[in-house]
Amino acid sequence: SRAISPDFTKCGPVDLPPNAITSPYCCPTLATPFKFIDFKDYLINATYNKYKNNSSIIRVRRPAHLVDDEFIAKLEKGIAIMKSLPNDDPRNFIQQAKVHCAYCNGGYPQKHPFQDQKIDVHRSWLFFPFHRFYIYFFERILGTLIGDPSFALPYWNWDSIQGMQIPSYFTTPNSSLYHKLRHYKHMPPHLVDLNYDILSPKIRTQDQQISYNLAFMYKQMVLANTKELFMGSPYRLGDPAQPGPGSVELAPHNTIHDWLGAVDTPNHEDMGTFYTAARDPIFYAHHSNVDRLWELWTKLEGGRRDYRDDPNWLDSKFFFYDENLNLVRVKVRDCLDTKLLGYVYEEVDLPWLNVNP
Ligand code: C2O
Repeated sequence: SRAISPDFTKCGPVDLPPNAITSPYCCPTLATPFKFIDFKDYLINATYNKYKNNSSIIRVRRPAHLVDDEFIAKLEKGIAIMKSLPNDDPRNFIQQAKVHCAYCNGGYPQKHPFQDQKIDVHRSWLFFPFHRFYIYFFERILGTLIGDPSFALPYWNWDSIQGMQIPSYFTTPNSSLYHKLRHYKHMPPHLVDLNYDILSPKIRTQDQQISYNLAFMYKQMVLANTKELFMGSPYRLGDPAQPGPGSVELAPHNTIHDWLGAVDTPNHEDMGTFYTAARDPIFYAHHSNVDRLWELWTKLEGGRRDYRDDPNWLDSKFFFYDENLNLVRVKVRDCLDTKLLGYVYEEVDLPWLNVNP
């Protein structure tokens, strides 16, 4: 098989951009002896079933701009608890951010004999499945810490007109959701440019920005009608990293990262560069929407095919810690049905769907 798998025990310092503001050590502390659970066993194991059946959940991920105060309080509480855990606890908020750093900035070598190639989950067909699993475990950890297994991450619904600005509760100082390193001009009610060009930002009226964004969503979702265009390029064992991004990964995904990163940090930290992006709590709401768009895309026009007929994609592997500090090895094939993972997205209107630019 030429499926990608990180050599998890060989995590090393990551490649940082110039003048980085954190250390290059993003590796989790490893329990010795090294052991892990396979996700397929995990799905049938008692803890998981208890977790699943108790509340007969399906966790429903809702648009971030439509949630109520009670929900916001839970989210704030969960993030606050994660931030307060000991630094080396895998559930700690910064530890979680480092998981992203390690998988994104070359913390893991590929398996022997390709150990000279470092793994990067971006700009390839691993982009959607990696981030799906990543926020899935984050969500489980958060829900468990607040004692609510039905807790579901919100999605920052930037493809809807009401959602085209940062949900304001992420910008309240003293909230655990507040983050300092963000672009000061892009605070609400400023509208996001889904195709933001960091080198030459465009000036548009609100109405112009809304029409532009909707037409752009149509282009990235509807016109990107093949797996190569939408999912990104194949990336197999032995391949160099970053073979080519899919439409939505490139924009709005990357562009919103750039739009939100601070202006006075060397690499637009935190959201504007991979090694620090997940230190901003809004990262998880951003990626919840990205994940939702993958789900939506597969259902457009009666069904579109991603790479689920390619065994190398299906067998690609990652490792994550869960809410019980178990290390879990997952395969891409395990994440293709969100209901099996225990969550769904609340459906909302898609104002871009019939906007033919
Ligand atoms: Cu791994 Cu939004 O990036």
